Amino acid sequence: MEITFSKKALPKRGSVIVLITEGDHDSDLVDELDTASDGLLRKAIKTESFKGQKGKILKVVPGASSNLERIILYGVGKVADLTPLKVEHLGGGIVANGLGKNVKSLTVLTPHIEHKDLGDADFAAHFGVGLYLRDYAFDRYKTKLKPEDKSKLTKVAIGTDAAAGARRKFAVQQSVADGVFLTRDLVSEPANVLFPEELANRASELSDLGVDVQVLGEKQMTKLGMGSLLGVGQGSARESKLVIMNWKGATKAKAKTLALVGKGVTFDTGGISLKPAGGMEQMKWDMGGAGAVVGAMHALAARKAKANVVGIVGLVENMPGANAQRPGDVVTSMSGQTIEVINTDAEGRLVLADALWYVQEKHKPDCIVDLATLTGAILVSLGHEFGGLFSNNDDLSGQLTQAGESVGDLLWRMPMGDAYDKMINSQIADMKNVGGRNGGSITAAQFLARFIQNDTPWAHLDIAGMAWSDKDLPTAPKGGTGFGVRLLDKLIADHFE
Ligand code: BES
Ligand code: MN
Ligand code: ZN
Repeated sequence: MEITFSKKALPKRGSVIVLITEGDHDSDLVDELDTASDGLLRKAIKTESFKGQKGKILKVVPGASSNLERIILYGVGKVADLTPLKVEHLGGGIVANGLGKNVKSLTVLTPHIEHKDLGDADFAAHFGVGLYLRDYAFDRYKTKLKPEDKSKLTKVAIGTDAAAGARRKFAVQQSVADGVFLTRDLVSEPANVLFPEELANRASELSDLGVDVQVLGEKQMTKLGMGSLLGVGQGSARESKLVIMNWKGATKAKAKTLALVGKGVTFDTGGISLKPAGGMEQMKWDMGGAGAVVGAMHALAARKAKANVVGIVGLVENMPGANAQRPGDVVTSMSGQTIEVINTDAEGRLVLADALWYVQEKHKPDCIVDLATLTGAILVSLGHEFGGLFSNNDDLSGQLTQAGESVGDLLWRMPMGDAYDKMINSQIADMKNVGGRNGGSITAAQFLARFIQNDTPWAHLDIAGMAWSDKDLPTAPKGGTGFGVRLLDKLIADHFE
Protein backbone atom coordinates (compact mmCIF):
# COMPACT_ATOMS: atom_id res chain seq x y z
CA MET A 1 0.00 0.00 0.00
CA GLU A 2 1.19 3.46 -0.88
CA ILE A 3 0.45 6.16 1.67
CA THR A 4 0.85 9.82 0.76
CA PHE A 5 0.34 13.01 2.73
CA SER A 6 -1.06 16.23 1.36
CA LYS A 7 -2.79 19.38 2.48
CA LYS A 8 -6.22 18.72 3.88
CA ALA A 9 -8.88 19.26 1.21
CA LEU A 10 -12.06 17.60 0.10
CA PRO A 11 -11.33 15.24 -2.82
CA LYS A 12 -13.24 15.60 -6.09
CA ARG A 13 -14.04 11.91 -6.38
CA GLY A 14 -13.58 8.53 -4.76
CA SER A 15 -14.25 7.73 -1.12
CA VAL A 16 -13.46 10.09 1.69
CA ILE A 17 -13.07 9.16 5.33
CA VAL A 18 -13.27 12.07 7.73
CA LEU A 19 -11.90 11.59 11.23
CA ILE A 20 -14.06 13.38 13.75
CA THR A 21 -12.96 14.00 17.33
CA GLU A 22 -15.73 13.74 19.89
CA GLY A 23 -18.03 16.73 19.79
CA ASP A 24 -16.57 18.08 16.54
CA HIS A 25 -19.35 16.85 14.25
CA ASP A 26 -20.52 20.39 13.55
CA SER A 27 -17.44 21.65 11.70
CA ASP A 28 -17.27 23.58 8.43
CA LEU A 29 -15.94 20.42 6.81
CA VAL A 30 -19.04 18.50 7.81
CA ASP A 31 -21.13 21.35 6.37
CA GLU A 32 -19.25 21.12 3.11
CA LEU A 33 -19.80 17.36 2.96
CA ASP A 34 -23.43 17.78 3.86
CA THR A 35 -23.87 20.05 0.86
CA ALA A 36 -22.04 17.53 -1.33
CA SER A 37 -24.46 14.86 -0.15
CA ASP A 38 -27.61 16.96 -0.59
CA GLY A 39 -28.26 16.99 3.15
CA LEU A 40 -27.95 13.23 3.61
CA LEU A 41 -24.96 13.52 5.93
CA ARG A 42 -26.57 15.78 8.54
CA LYS A 43 -29.63 13.57 8.52
CA ALA A 44 -27.51 10.46 9.11
CA ILE A 45 -25.55 12.19 11.89
CA LYS A 46 -28.81 12.95 13.65
CA THR A 47 -30.44 9.57 13.08
CA GLU A 48 -27.38 7.65 14.27
CA SER A 49 -26.48 10.08 17.09
CA PHE A 50 -22.99 10.39 15.67
CA LYS A 51 -20.81 12.68 17.76
CA GLY A 52 -17.34 11.32 16.91
CA GLN A 53 -17.46 8.58 19.54
CA LYS A 54 -14.34 6.42 19.45
CA GLY A 55 -14.50 3.81 16.70
CA LYS A 56 -18.01 4.78 15.58
CA ILE A 57 -18.50 4.71 11.82
CA LEU A 58 -21.10 6.49 9.73
CA LYS A 59 -21.35 5.73 5.99
CA VAL A 60 -23.27 7.79 3.51
CA VAL A 61 -23.52 7.26 -0.22
CA PRO A 62 -24.20 10.68 -1.74
CA GLY A 63 -26.77 11.13 -4.47
CA ALA A 64 -26.23 11.04 -8.22
CA SER A 65 -25.26 14.71 -8.40
CA SER A 66 -22.03 14.10 -6.42
CA ASN A 67 -18.81 12.64 -7.79
CA LEU A 68 -17.93 11.25 -4.37
CA GLU A 69 -18.52 7.51 -4.02
CA ARG A 70 -18.81 7.42 -0.29
CA ILE A 71 -18.54 9.71 2.69
CA ILE A 72 -17.48 7.98 5.88
CA LEU A 73 -17.28 9.69 9.24
CA TYR A 74 -14.98 7.85 11.63
CA GLY A 75 -15.07 8.69 15.32
CA VAL A 76 -11.77 9.43 17.05
CA GLY A 77 -13.14 9.82 20.58
CA LYS A 78 -11.97 12.34 23.13
CA VAL A 79 -8.78 14.21 22.25
CA ALA A 80 -7.52 14.05 25.84
CA ASP A 81 -7.62 10.23 25.73
CA LEU A 82 -5.42 9.96 22.64
CA THR A 83 -1.94 8.44 22.62
CA PRO A 84 0.22 7.72 19.57
CA LEU A 85 -0.61 4.03 19.99
CA LYS A 86 -4.36 4.70 20.07
CA VAL A 87 -4.06 6.71 16.87
CA GLU A 88 -2.30 3.73 15.27
CA HIS A 89 -5.16 1.50 16.36
CA LEU A 90 -7.59 3.91 14.69
CA GLY A 91 -5.53 3.65 11.51
CA GLY A 92 -5.67 -0.13 11.72
CA GLY A 93 -9.42 0.18 12.08
CA ILE A 94 -9.70 1.32 8.46
CA VAL A 95 -8.61 -2.16 7.34
CA ALA A 96 -10.27 -4.07 10.19
CA ASN A 97 -13.63 -2.47 9.34
CA GLY A 98 -13.20 -3.06 5.62
CA LEU A 99 -13.49 0.66 4.88
CA GLY A 100 -11.07 0.37 2.01
CA LYS A 101 -12.71 -2.67 0.40
CA ASN A 102 -13.89 -2.23 -3.20
CA VAL A 103 -12.67 1.32 -3.24
CA LYS A 104 -10.55 2.74 -6.02
CA SER A 105 -9.15 5.73 -4.24
CA LEU A 106 -9.33 6.63 -0.61
CA THR A 107 -8.73 9.95 1.06
CA VAL A 108 -8.53 10.23 4.84
CA LEU A 109 -8.89 13.70 6.34
CA THR A 110 -7.29 13.95 9.78
CA PRO A 111 -8.45 16.43 12.43
CA HIS A 112 -6.57 19.37 13.87
CA ILE A 113 -5.94 18.53 17.51
CA GLU A 114 -4.63 20.30 20.60
CA HIS A 115 -2.76 17.69 22.61
CA LYS A 116 0.39 17.87 24.71
CA ASP A 117 2.22 14.92 23.08
CA LEU A 118 0.53 14.79 19.70
CA GLY A 119 0.68 17.43 17.02
CA ASP A 120 -1.16 17.22 13.71
CA ALA A 121 1.93 15.74 12.03
CA ASP A 122 2.19 13.01 14.69
CA PHE A 123 -1.47 12.23 14.40
CA ALA A 124 -1.36 11.82 10.63
CA ALA A 125 1.91 9.83 10.70
CA HIS A 126 0.79 7.44 13.45
CA PHE A 127 -2.56 6.98 11.75
CA GLY A 128 -0.73 6.05 8.55
CA VAL A 129 1.58 3.64 10.39
CA GLY A 130 -1.34 1.81 12.00
CA LEU A 131 -3.08 1.52 8.66
CA TYR A 132 0.08 0.30 6.96
CA LEU A 133 0.83 -2.30 9.68
CA ARG A 134 -2.72 -3.68 9.67
CA ASP A 135 -2.86 -4.03 5.88
CA TYR A 136 -0.30 -6.86 5.86
CA ALA A 137 -1.22 -10.27 4.41
CA PHE A 138 0.80 -13.45 4.03
CA ASP A 139 -0.85 -14.90 0.93
CA ARG A 140 2.16 -16.28 -0.90
CA TYR A 141 0.74 -19.81 -0.97
CA LYS A 142 -2.84 -18.89 -1.89
CA THR A 143 -2.80 -19.76 -5.59
CA LYS A 144 -6.53 -19.38 -6.10
CA LEU A 145 -6.92 -15.84 -4.76
CA LYS A 146 -8.67 -13.63 -7.30
CA PRO A 147 -7.61 -10.01 -7.47
CA GLU A 148 -10.95 -8.95 -5.97
CA ASP A 149 -10.33 -11.18 -2.94
CA LYS A 150 -7.15 -9.33 -2.13
CA SER A 151 -7.25 -6.01 -0.37
CA LYS A 152 -7.82 -3.61 -3.26
CA LEU A 153 -6.52 -0.67 -1.37
CA THR A 154 -3.30 0.33 -3.07
CA LYS A 155 -3.27 4.08 -2.46
CA VAL A 156 -4.36 6.13 0.51
CA ALA A 157 -4.01 9.89 0.57
CA ILE A 158 -3.94 11.32 4.07
CA GLY A 159 -4.98 14.94 4.33
CA THR A 160 -3.42 16.98 7.13
CA ASP A 161 -2.47 20.58 7.82
CA ALA A 162 1.05 19.35 8.65
CA ALA A 163 1.81 17.28 5.55
CA ALA A 164 5.58 17.85 5.40
CA GLY A 165 6.12 16.84 9.04
CA ALA A 166 3.80 13.87 8.73
CA ARG A 167 5.59 12.66 5.61
CA ARG A 168 8.97 12.84 7.36
CA LYS A 169 7.81 11.04 10.51
CA PHE A 170 5.94 8.43 8.52
CA ALA A 171 8.94 7.60 6.33
CA VAL A 172 11.01 6.66 9.39
CA GLN A 173 8.25 4.51 10.86
CA GLN A 174 7.56 2.88 7.52
CA SER A 175 11.13 1.55 7.54
CA VAL A 176 10.43 0.06 10.95
CA ALA A 177 7.12 -1.38 9.77
CA ASP A 178 8.92 -3.02 6.86
CA GLY A 179 11.14 -4.69 9.47
CA VAL A 180 7.95 -5.90 11.18
CA PHE A 181 6.75 -7.30 7.83
CA LEU A 182 10.04 -9.14 7.33
CA THR A 183 9.61 -10.76 10.76
CA ARG A 184 5.99 -11.68 10.00
CA ASP A 185 7.06 -13.25 6.70
CA LEU A 186 9.80 -15.30 8.39
CA VAL A 187 7.51 -16.45 11.19
CA SER A 188 4.74 -17.40 8.75
CA GLU A 189 6.89 -19.44 6.37
CA PRO A 190 6.50 -23.19 6.78
CA ALA A 191 9.49 -25.14 8.02
CA ASN A 192 9.99 -27.04 4.76
CA VAL A 193 10.71 -23.69 3.13
CA LEU A 194 12.39 -21.86 6.00
CA PHE A 195 15.10 -24.09 7.46
CA PRO A 196 18.33 -22.76 8.97
CA GLU A 197 20.14 -22.15 5.70
CA GLU A 198 17.14 -20.40 4.13
CA LEU A 199 16.71 -18.14 7.16
CA ALA A 200 20.42 -17.37 6.92
CA ASN A 201 19.96 -16.52 3.23
CA ARG A 202 17.09 -14.15 4.00
CA ALA A 203 19.15 -12.50 6.74
CA SER A 204 22.03 -12.15 4.28
CA GLU A 205 19.84 -9.89 2.13
CA LEU A 206 20.30 -7.23 4.82
CA SER A 207 23.71 -6.58 3.30
CA ASP A 208 21.84 -4.58 0.61
CA LEU A 209 20.99 -2.10 3.37
CA GLY A 210 24.58 -1.86 4.59
CA VAL A 211 24.49 -4.51 7.31
CA ASP A 212 27.61 -6.65 7.52
CA VAL A 213 26.34 -10.24 7.56
CA GLN A 214 28.42 -13.28 8.40
CA VAL A 215 27.13 -16.87 8.34
CA LEU A 216 28.87 -19.68 10.23
CA GLY A 217 28.21 -23.35 9.42
CA GLU A 218 28.67 -26.50 11.49
CA LYS A 219 32.36 -26.86 10.71
CA GLN A 220 33.16 -23.40 12.05
CA MET A 221 30.89 -23.84 15.06
CA THR A 222 32.56 -27.17 15.87
CA LYS A 223 35.92 -25.39 15.86
CA LEU A 224 34.51 -22.78 18.24
CA GLY A 225 33.35 -25.50 20.60
CA MET A 226 29.62 -24.82 20.34
CA GLY A 227 28.59 -28.25 21.55
CA SER A 228 25.39 -26.94 23.10
CA LEU A 229 23.92 -25.44 19.91
CA LEU A 230 25.24 -28.22 17.69
CA GLY A 231 23.75 -30.92 19.90
CA VAL A 232 20.25 -29.57 19.20
CA GLY A 233 20.72 -29.62 15.43
CA GLN A 234 22.47 -32.97 15.18
CA GLY A 235 19.28 -34.96 14.55
CA SER A 236 18.35 -32.82 11.55
CA ALA A 237 19.26 -33.32 7.90
CA ARG A 238 19.53 -29.52 7.67
CA GLU A 239 22.78 -27.85 8.61
CA SER A 240 22.74 -25.60 11.70
CA LYS A 241 23.83 -22.00 11.17
CA LEU A 242 24.85 -18.99 13.19
CA VAL A 243 24.23 -15.60 11.61
CA ILE A 244 25.94 -12.44 12.80
CA MET A 245 24.55 -9.13 11.53
CA ASN A 246 26.54 -6.02 12.30
CA TRP A 247 25.13 -2.50 11.94
CA LYS A 248 27.62 0.22 12.72
CA GLY A 249 25.61 3.39 12.44
CA ALA A 250 26.93 5.35 15.44
CA THR A 251 28.68 8.63 14.77
CA LYS A 252 30.02 9.10 18.31
CA ALA A 253 33.27 7.30 19.12
CA LYS A 254 32.07 6.35 22.60
CA ALA A 255 28.78 4.83 21.43
CA LYS A 256 27.67 1.72 23.27
CA THR A 257 27.28 -1.60 21.48
CA LEU A 258 24.00 -3.42 21.91
CA ALA A 259 23.75 -7.13 21.14
CA LEU A 260 20.45 -8.65 20.06
CA VAL A 261 20.33 -12.43 20.30
CA GLY A 262 17.55 -14.60 18.86
CA LYS A 263 16.40 -18.20 19.23
CA GLY A 264 15.98 -19.58 15.73
CA VAL A 265 14.58 -23.09 15.98
CA THR A 266 13.10 -23.36 12.48
CA PHE A 267 11.07 -26.35 13.65
CA ASP A 268 10.79 -27.80 17.14
CA THR A 269 9.52 -31.37 17.22
CA GLY A 270 10.89 -31.67 20.74
CA GLY A 271 13.53 -34.10 19.46
CA ILE A 272 13.67 -37.50 21.19
CA SER A 273 11.53 -35.94 23.95
CA LEU A 274 8.94 -35.70 21.19
CA LYS A 275 6.05 -33.25 21.46
CA PRO A 276 2.45 -34.50 21.14
CA ALA A 277 0.97 -34.30 17.61
CA GLY A 278 -1.81 -31.83 18.41
CA GLY A 279 -0.69 -28.31 17.56
CA MET A 280 2.84 -29.31 16.68
CA GLU A 281 2.53 -27.41 13.38
CA GLN A 282 2.81 -24.23 15.44
CA MET A 283 6.43 -25.03 16.12
CA LYS A 284 7.32 -23.61 12.70
CA TRP A 285 7.35 -20.25 14.48
CA ASP A 286 9.83 -21.35 17.12
CA MET A 287 12.24 -19.04 15.32
CA GLY A 288 10.20 -15.98 16.37
CA GLY A 289 13.07 -14.58 18.44
CA ALA A 290 15.47 -14.85 15.53
CA GLY A 291 12.79 -13.39 13.26
CA ALA A 292 12.44 -10.38 15.54
CA VAL A 293 16.20 -9.82 15.57
CA VAL A 294 16.43 -9.98 11.76
CA GLY A 295 13.43 -7.65 11.46
CA ALA A 296 14.91 -5.21 13.95
CA MET A 297 18.22 -5.16 12.06
CA HIS A 298 16.26 -4.39 8.89
CA ALA A 299 14.47 -1.54 10.66
CA LEU A 300 17.72 -0.03 12.00
CA ALA A 301 19.50 -0.20 8.68
CA ALA A 302 16.52 1.02 6.65
CA ARG A 303 16.13 4.11 8.84
CA LYS A 304 19.91 4.49 9.18
CA ALA A 305 19.90 4.42 12.97
CA LYS A 306 22.89 6.17 14.56
CA ALA A 307 23.70 3.21 16.79
CA ASN A 308 26.03 0.22 16.90
CA VAL A 309 24.02 -2.97 17.09
CA VAL A 310 25.09 -6.53 16.52
CA GLY A 311 22.36 -9.08 15.89
CA ILE A 312 23.05 -12.78 16.25
CA VAL A 313 20.71 -15.70 15.63
CA GLY A 314 21.28 -19.39 16.36
CA LEU A 315 19.50 -21.43 13.68
CA VAL A 316 18.75 -25.12 14.15
CA GLU A 317 16.04 -27.68 13.47
CA ASN A 318 15.16 -29.87 16.47
CA MET A 319 14.41 -33.33 15.07
CA PRO A 320 14.36 -36.88 16.37
CA GLY A 321 16.43 -39.38 14.41
CA ALA A 322 19.24 -41.87 14.54
CA ASN A 323 21.75 -39.11 15.13
CA ALA A 324 19.61 -37.02 17.47
CA GLN A 325 20.83 -36.22 20.95
CA ARG A 326 19.37 -38.30 23.77
CA PRO A 327 17.96 -37.34 27.15
CA GLY A 328 20.85 -37.72 29.56
CA ASP A 329 23.54 -36.69 27.07
CA VAL A 330 26.13 -34.24 28.40
CA VAL A 331 27.28 -31.49 26.03
CA THR A 332 30.07 -28.95 26.42
CA SER A 333 29.14 -25.38 25.54
CA MET A 334 31.49 -22.80 24.01
CA SER A 335 31.84 -21.30 27.50
CA GLY A 336 33.38 -24.58 28.70
CA GLN A 337 30.44 -25.24 31.00
CA THR A 338 28.87 -28.68 30.67
CA ILE A 339 25.14 -29.32 30.39
CA GLU A 340 23.17 -32.47 31.09
CA VAL A 341 20.33 -32.59 28.55
CA ILE A 342 17.46 -33.96 30.62
CA ASN A 343 14.83 -33.04 28.05
CA THR A 344 15.65 -32.53 24.37
CA ASP A 345 12.57 -30.30 24.07
CA ALA A 346 14.22 -27.64 26.26
CA GLU A 347 16.41 -26.84 23.25
CA GLY A 348 16.07 -23.07 22.89
CA ARG A 349 18.24 -22.34 25.90
CA LEU A 350 20.91 -24.70 24.52
CA VAL A 351 21.01 -22.70 21.30
CA LEU A 352 21.06 -19.35 23.08
CA ALA A 353 23.84 -20.43 25.46
CA ASP A 354 26.37 -20.62 22.64
CA ALA A 355 25.00 -17.63 20.71
CA LEU A 356 25.21 -15.49 23.88
CA TRP A 357 28.74 -16.64 24.62
CA TYR A 358 29.91 -16.09 21.07
CA VAL A 359 28.63 -12.52 20.88
CA GLN A 360 30.30 -11.63 24.19
CA GLU A 361 33.63 -13.15 23.17
CA LYS A 362 33.70 -11.55 19.72
CA HIS A 363 31.87 -8.25 20.15
CA LYS A 364 32.17 -7.30 23.85
CA PRO A 365 28.69 -5.70 23.92
CA ASP A 366 27.78 -3.18 26.63
CA CYS A 367 24.28 -4.52 26.79
CA ILE A 368 22.49 -7.69 25.63
CA VAL A 369 18.83 -8.37 24.85
CA ASP A 370 17.79 -11.87 23.82
CA LEU A 371 14.41 -12.85 22.40
CA ALA A 372 13.05 -16.38 22.33
CA THR A 373 9.86 -18.40 22.10
CA LEU A 374 11.39 -20.20 25.02
CA THR A 375 8.74 -21.75 27.25
CA GLY A 376 5.12 -22.84 27.24
CA ALA A 377 5.16 -21.85 30.91
CA ILE A 378 5.22 -18.14 30.00
CA LEU A 379 1.80 -18.65 28.40
CA VAL A 380 0.55 -20.08 31.68
CA SER A 381 1.85 -16.98 33.49
CA LEU A 382 1.03 -14.15 31.10
CA GLY A 383 -1.20 -15.50 28.32
CA HIS A 384 -1.01 -13.51 25.11
CA GLU A 385 -1.01 -10.08 26.74
CA PHE A 386 2.61 -9.57 27.84
CA GLY A 387 5.98 -11.00 26.93
CA GLY A 388 8.01 -12.17 29.92
CA LEU A 389 10.95 -9.94 30.83
CA PHE A 390 13.85 -11.33 32.87
CA SER A 391 16.87 -9.20 33.62
CA ASN A 392 19.87 -8.62 35.83
CA ASN A 393 19.49 -4.85 35.46
CA ASP A 394 16.74 -2.51 36.70
CA ASP A 395 17.56 0.34 34.30
CA LEU A 396 17.45 -1.87 31.23
CA SER A 397 14.23 -3.47 32.47
CA GLY A 398 12.62 -0.08 32.88
CA GLN A 399 13.77 1.07 29.46
CA LEU A 400 12.43 -2.04 27.78
CA THR A 401 9.10 -1.92 29.62
CA GLN A 402 8.63 1.71 28.64
CA ALA A 403 9.64 1.20 25.02
CA GLY A 404 7.19 -1.68 24.85
CA GLU A 405 4.37 0.35 26.33
CA SER A 406 4.78 3.13 23.81
CA VAL A 407 4.72 0.83 20.76
CA GLY A 408 2.28 -1.77 22.09
CA ASP A 409 4.75 -4.65 22.53
CA LEU A 410 3.96 -5.16 26.22
CA LEU A 411 6.40 -6.73 28.67
CA TRP A 412 5.98 -7.84 32.27
CA ARG A 413 9.02 -8.32 34.48
CA MET A 414 9.38 -11.69 36.18
CA PRO A 415 11.56 -12.52 39.19
CA MET A 416 14.96 -14.24 39.18
CA GLY A 417 17.23 -15.35 42.02
CA ASP A 418 19.53 -17.92 43.60
CA ALA A 419 16.74 -20.21 44.74
CA TYR A 420 15.66 -20.64 41.11
CA ASP A 421 19.25 -20.94 39.94
CA LYS A 422 19.83 -23.92 42.25
CA MET A 423 17.00 -25.78 40.55
CA ILE A 424 19.15 -26.37 37.45
CA ASN A 425 22.17 -27.85 39.23
CA SER A 426 22.99 -31.29 37.80
CA GLN A 427 24.30 -34.35 39.55
CA ILE A 428 26.91 -35.10 36.89
CA ALA A 429 27.46 -31.84 34.95
CA ASP A 430 27.66 -28.11 35.66
CA MET A 431 23.95 -27.73 35.04
CA LYS A 432 20.93 -29.44 33.54
CA ASN A 433 18.65 -27.96 30.91
CA VAL A 434 15.39 -28.21 32.87
CA GLY A 435 14.53 -27.32 36.44
CA GLY A 436 11.36 -29.29 37.02
CA ARG A 437 7.73 -28.38 36.42
CA ASN A 438 7.42 -25.29 38.57
CA GLY A 439 8.68 -21.86 37.60
CA GLY A 440 9.60 -23.17 34.15
CA SER A 441 10.10 -19.78 32.50
CA ILE A 442 12.22 -18.56 35.39
CA THR A 443 14.54 -21.57 35.51
CA ALA A 444 14.95 -21.18 31.73
CA ALA A 445 16.03 -17.57 32.31
CA GLN A 446 18.40 -18.69 35.11
CA PHE A 447 19.98 -21.09 32.65
CA LEU A 448 20.66 -18.22 30.22
CA ALA A 449 22.02 -16.05 33.05
CA ARG A 450 24.81 -18.60 33.52
CA PHE A 451 26.10 -17.56 30.11
CA ILE A 452 26.28 -13.82 30.81
CA GLN A 453 29.81 -12.59 31.55
CA ASN A 454 30.71 -10.05 34.27
CA ASP A 455 27.17 -8.90 35.03
CA THR A 456 26.81 -7.26 31.62
CA PRO A 457 23.37 -5.61 31.57
CA TRP A 458 21.18 -8.27 30.01
CA ALA A 459 17.51 -8.90 29.43
CA HIS A 460 15.77 -12.02 28.20
CA LEU A 461 12.36 -11.68 26.55
CA ASP A 462 10.29 -14.87 26.50
CA ILE A 463 7.93 -14.19 23.60
CA ALA A 464 6.32 -17.65 23.27
CA GLY A 465 2.90 -16.06 23.88
CA MET A 466 3.45 -13.07 21.59
CA ALA A 467 5.12 -14.10 18.34
CA TRP A 468 1.92 -15.51 16.88
CA SER A 469 -1.71 -14.53 17.29
CA ASP A 470 -4.76 -16.68 16.51
CA LYS A 471 -6.94 -13.58 16.42
CA ASP A 472 -6.73 -10.26 14.63
CA LEU A 473 -5.02 -7.51 16.60
CA PRO A 474 -5.47 -3.73 16.17
CA THR A 475 -2.43 -3.38 13.91
CA ALA A 476 -1.80 -6.99 12.89
CA PRO A 477 -3.96 -9.58 11.20
CA LYS A 478 -3.92 -13.02 12.78
CA GLY A 479 -0.65 -14.90 12.22
CA GLY A 480 2.90 -13.74 12.84
CA THR A 481 2.76 -10.51 14.83
CA GLY A 482 6.28 -9.18 14.42
CA PHE A 483 6.41 -8.70 18.20
CA GLY A 484 9.71 -7.25 19.34
CA VAL A 485 10.76 -5.30 16.25
CA ARG A 486 9.18 -1.98 17.19
CA LEU A 487 10.10 -2.53 20.82
CA LEU A 488 13.79 -2.97 20.00
CA ASP A 489 13.74 -0.09 17.54
CA LYS A 490 12.23 2.19 20.19
CA LEU A 491 14.71 1.04 22.84
CA ILE A 492 17.55 1.88 20.47
CA ALA A 493 16.07 5.22 19.36
CA ASP A 494 15.59 6.28 22.99
CA HIS A 495 18.76 4.93 24.62
CA PHE A 496 21.42 3.97 22.07
CA GLU A 497 21.41 6.88 19.60
N1 BES B 1 9.45 -23.90 21.73
C1 BES B 1 9.03 -24.40 22.98
C2 BES B 1 8.23 -23.39 23.80
C3 BES B 1 6.91 -22.96 23.21
C4 BES B 1 5.74 -23.55 23.63
C5 BES B 1 6.84 -21.92 22.33
C6 BES B 1 4.53 -23.13 23.14
C7 BES B 1 5.62 -21.50 21.83
C8 BES B 1 4.47 -22.10 22.24
C9 BES B 1 10.23 -24.83 23.80
O1 BES B 1 11.32 -25.27 23.08
C10 BES B 1 9.80 -25.96 24.66
O2 BES B 1 9.49 -26.98 24.12
N2 BES B 1 9.80 -25.75 25.96
C11 BES B 1 9.39 -26.75 26.87
C12 BES B 1 10.36 -26.74 28.02
C13 BES B 1 10.22 -27.92 28.94
C14 BES B 1 10.63 -29.19 28.24
C15 BES B 1 11.08 -27.69 30.15
C16 BES B 1 7.99 -26.40 27.34
O3 BES B 1 7.67 -25.22 27.47
O4 BES B 1 7.19 -27.32 27.52
MN1 MN C 1 11.23 -27.31 22.63
ZN1 ZN D 1 11.49 -24.59 21.17
